[in-house]
Amino acid sequence: MCGITGYLGPRSAVDTALNNLKRLEYRGYDSAGVAYPNCTHVQVVRAAGKIANLEGVLLATPHAANVAIAHTRWATHGGPSESNAHPHGDCSGRIAVVHNGIIENYASLRSELVASGHQFASETDTEVLAHLIEANLPSGQPGPEEIAGAIRVALRRVRGSYAIALISQDAPDMVFVARQDSPLVIGIGDGETFLASDIPAVMRYTRKVILLEDGDFATLTSERIGITDLHGVPVLRFPIEVTWDDAAAEKDGYEHFMLKEIHEGPRTVRDTLRGRMAGKGRVELPGVAFTPQEWAGFQRFVIVGCGTAYHAGVVGKRLFEQLLHRPVETAVASEFRYSEPILDAQTLVILVSQSGETADTLAAMRAAKPKGAKTLAIVNVVGSTLAREADATLLTQAGPEIGVASTKAYLAQLTALTLLGLFLVQTRPCEPTGATQETIDTLLWGLHGLPAVLERCLQDEAQIASLAESLAQHSSFFYLGRGYDYAISLEAALKLKEISYLHAEAYPAGEMKHGPLALVESGVAVIGFCTQPITNEKMLSNLKEVKAREGTIIAVIREGDRVPDCADAVITVPNAAAALMPIVTMVSMQLLAYYVAKARGCEIDQPRNLAKSVTVE
Ligand code: M6R
Repeated sequence: MCGITGYLGPRSAVDTALNNLKRLEYRGYDSAGVAYPNCTHVQVVRAAGKIANLEGVLLATPHAANVAIAHTRWATHGGPSESNAHPHGDCSGRIAVVHNGIIENYASLRSELVASGHQFASETDTEVLAHLIEANLPSGQPGPEEIAGAIRVALRRVRGSYAIALISQDAPDMVFVARQDSPLVIGIGDGETFLASDIPAVMRYTRKVILLEDGDFATLTSERIGITDLHGVPVLRFPIEVTWDDAAAEKDGYEHFMLKEIHEGPRTVRDTLRGRMAGKGRVELPGVAFTPQEWAGFQRFVIVGCGTAYHAGVVGKRLFEQLLHRPVETAVASEFRYSEPILDAQTLVILVSQSGETADTLAAMRAAKPKGAKTLAIVNVVGSTLAREADATLLTQAGPEIGVASTKAYLAQLTALTLLGLFLVQTRPCEPTGATQETIDTLLWGLHGLPAVLERCLQDEAQIASLAESLAQHSSFFYLGRGYDYAISLEAALKLKEISYLHAEAYPAGEMKHGPLALVESGVAVIGFCTQPITNEKMLSNLKEVKAREGTIIAVIREGDRVPDCADAVITVPNAAAALMPIVTMVSMQLLAYYVAKARGCEIDQPRNLAKSVTVE
């Protein structure tokens, strides 16, 4: 989705803002632009396509300035073109604004502004903001306070979500910013101030950041940050220190972020476990803010997320039911909100999200709270909206994930869910749980050794890459499994489709003969997961049914298991406890998706039509 950066200070503002904007390229975009004050007006430079195109235009445009705002746009209102790219200006050309989010009442505001004489130059909802602010400015040369006042008045009329940054010719050493339902980060430097819609964009320069909250409005100079609400009442926001390693936001010699992040899987799991595996075979979750009574009182669990995070929840459901013998539901966040969920004070709603900014997941949390349910965020980004608003937070420790296709974050989510399941068992010692002590001990030991097991999975990279070469010729893929293997097939299929653009569908293996088997013919590849002893025999029968219809079969089996006769190829994965096999198997599936996409020449880190952080519903 869209990205915002900004800079105020002694460096070249345009170059700094654009360099930081490149750190947000992973979010997906189709045009880019920058604005900076010059002697006579606010200069706006935009280009369709990549930031490199914008830099090409800037080569021929003087751009010395100490203040700049920049933007990458992911088209919503109006196609991807230079005229729809941000920044957008008012009629006078004295202000320029960049915006992430959607102005829901833009059509009525636009009609009103057109009726009063404003001329629009784009199809975007954002341009409404520039004109609405202009309409509230006093005539003549407004001062900073008057500009701030006009922005606040305008924003009070806006419905929807926004992170905005605005510069004005009349306050050339300032940037005005505001946030509602779309993230905005202010980086504090020494005599310089940074602005971005995501933390990695400023990490190269500063670790001290202020995360604006909904309803915040701020005026920035290189030396000062003043924050108020939309009525001008001052609010206090304290800076936090970001502990992420800046190198994590670089490719570090890998061809793609996705490949680097797959290789970071073992470290991610190790970091997510750190400090949570206490001695005597117990799990501890320091910082997760529920009382022992609250923990023990949860009778029902609902796990909610989108995409990969939802798929982590599908694994979590099986695990929790097995461990707790309690009802557990999973829900896609965009459906949960409108499904009239039955929740009460004894329900724990677990919201899973890498970014902590996914609009649907936030809406689900906000729908759950008024019904009395407690909310727990399993989230990767400290200080994200989800982390701030949930009743409690369990942080995954994946570090920044840049590739649009989620990889290491999924492993971290599964690790966190496993820890949570085991912890919940401990919180109810007097209850007969579904899990035997042996199952619990096996899981605990399994978790302990998991990073080393994942390192071994990565050793098969070359073999998986060569298999991917031949699979890339197939037109369609089915991913089949039962139980945990079905849960993993959902995420494995998503990985392939989002980066290789091949049709890939996950199915419970037993369902194939109830319909989808009709699609199997030569040229269709079927990845069959056989990692669960309890269902392996039935899986093999299902794979034979596919073989009889001339599908190509790739069986995923555990080390030491017999290679199925019907398999055309095999991916062997290390053995682990049944509930941990999804984590183990996923590393190979991420590599497989990566190398198929590479063989097909796809743009792996920024797949078409997709964005890293989906901040609109
Ligand atoms: O930041 P979140 O985890 O809330 O994001 C949810 C989904 O948008 C995300 O997992 C998406 O499905 C990934 N691109 C999948 O690789």
